[in-house]
Amino acid sequence: MSRWLVVGYGRAGEVHAAALSRVSTAVVAGVVEASPEARERASAAGYAVHSDLDAAIKEARPDAISVALPHDLHEWTVEVAAANGIPVLVEKPLARDAEEAARMVAVARAGGVELGCLMNYRSYAQLRWIRDIVADGTLRVHNVVVEVNLPAAVQVPGWQTSEARAGRGLLLTVGVHYLDLLAWWFGAPERLVADVRGSFDDAATALIALPGDVRAAVSMVAVAARGAGVRITLSASEGTVVIEGSRVVSSPEGMTPPEPETEGADLLYGAGHLEYFRAADRAVELGRPFPVSGDDGLEAVRLVDLWYASARAGGWVGYGE
Ligand SMILES: NC(=O)c1ccc[n+]([C@@H]2O[C@H](COP(=O)([O-])OP(=O)(O)OC[C@H]3O[C@@H](n4cnc5c(N)ncnc54)[C@H](O)[C@@H]3O)[C@@H](O)[C@H]2O)c1
Repeated sequence: MSRWLVVGYGRAGEVHAAALSRVSTAVVAGVVEASPEARERASAAGYAVHSDLDAAIKEARPDAISVALPHDLHEWTVEVAAANGIPVLVEKPLARDAEEAARMVAVARAGGVELGCLMNYRSYAQLRWIRDIVADGTLRVHNVVVEVNLPAAVQVPGWQTSEARAGRGLLLTVGVHYLDLLAWWFGAPERLVADVRGSFDDAATALIALPGDVRAAVSMVAVAARGAGVRITLSASEGTVVIEGSRVVSSPEGMTPPEPETEGADLLYGAGHLEYFRAADRAVELGRPFPVSGDDGLEAVRLVDLWYASARAGGWVGYGE
């Protein structure tokens, strides 16, 4: 039985605690929260609550820490976890920029603790299936179109609209999921040409060159009055795969995706968090890396940085250029 300390009990933290409560081999040993109101909610849900991370670690003696805090506090939690020798799982994006993410990876490594990044999309069976059929050559993709239409530019008022706290706008808070999926399916992008508009990344577009001569066109628009949602279209020699949200809605004849998860689908962000925590808990039990590592989290943030760099430069940019 692994004891987990959940740090932050806002929208995502509440999902962490609820998901961990459904993992039969895990126990929520405590919740750390700065806000009295949120502590009250956590207490009402049956969790032991704390206001201070160091004191909570002493009292709850966790085997692992999961972090769902504003982005400017992610690095601090990794420093505390590393100093105490406890594996730490941090919500996406790992950090506000690649420099900060690289420091976090280094601190965890120096402290000898596993650092994970909670990229919940990678936990969906159908999205794993895409990765598998791309990797084994069953689906030979040449073009990808990612369309992310959000209902409003500012989804969550508060710290997310502060550049100092959140780092950037929607590209970092939301776009990072899809950049991570592309890098996971096809390998780290080689270069990209991109544009960002609006004070909160209200409209962002990019053309990304991926390994294997795959090209991805990504559009993120945050003003969709209707039809908000995510659609990914993969054009391959074998036919077309269409994904809506985390579900495959169309695939070439003879290529049938696995059934989507039903358990955990009632959680605020869907079944991905429950699946992720199941795997993360197994990793903690076995002393292995988390399903998505700190290095993967760093790569995704680096891509966001690259996107901004291209928008500033007004042309193609690549790693090491
Ligand atoms: N993977 C996903 O699908 C997903 C979805 C939503 C949010 N997130 C990520 O989760 C993280 C948190 O976002 P959120 O939407 O839950 O934010 P939120 O504002 O709802 O919650 C953050 C909580 O942290 C608490 N807090 C602030 N400072 C603290 C401190 N020093 N110690 C303890 N608690 C403190 C706040 O009181 C608040 O309750 C972010 O990284 C965000 O990008 C991920």
